[in-house]
Amino acid sequence: MSVCFTLPTVEDTHAFGRRLAGVLRAGDLLLLTGPLGAGKTALTQGLGAGLGVRGDVTSPTFVIARVHRPDPARGGTVALVHADAYRLGDAADPRAEIDDLDLDASVDDSVTVVEWGEGLVEQLVDAHLWVRIDRRDDDTRLVELEPVGGDWADRLTALG
Ligand SMILES: Nc1ncnc2c1ncn2[C@@H]1O[C@H](COP(=O)(O)OP(=O)(O)OP(=O)(O)O)[C@@H](O)[C@H]1O
Ligand SMILES: [Mg+2]
Repeated sequence: MSVCFTLPTVEDTHAFGRRLAGVLRAGDLLLLTGPLGAGKTALTQGLGAGLGVRGDVTSPTFVIARVHRPDPARGGTVALVHADAYRLGDAADPRAEIDDLDLDASVDDSVTVVEWGEGLVEQLVDAHLWVRIDRRDDDTRLVELEPVGGDWADRLTALG
């Protein structure tokens, strides 16, 4: 079972991220896929806003994972770990590079969101949520959420 949403503008993508944040909790792993410029980081910005974390969510140039700590003043209770594995595409051993990030040390206490992590990070937790973003000819985005294990399917129903 997967669910799809149309996101006409970047503001809709931000708003969708804030809404999705409402069903997230520590220990979650989200795998964001879609072509360059699809809106993976834009969606993560919405997640960060919804989770009430500190710091701007950006596309890191050198850093490939960043921890955004919760800001109690904004209602935040859980950290957002945002990783972008795109630059690992050329690495001789991408899996070893991912291991160096120590995502498994933070995954239980954080919401972990990984761009370009397909085939690299699924083993971090038993369950995960696929978030596939497609850019259509009219520049609107289509986001497909596919639950894998855990109670993701129930939570997507709650998302409406
Ligand atoms: N509906 C939309 N949703 C998301 N982004 C949109 C939308 N319409 C236009 N955009 C623009 O598309 C770009 C999306 O960039 P973003 O960095 O989020 O993509 P990305 O998938 O993270 O790319 P990369 O693979 O390079 O990390 C932004 O410039 C944003 O303003
Ligand atoms: Mg990005």
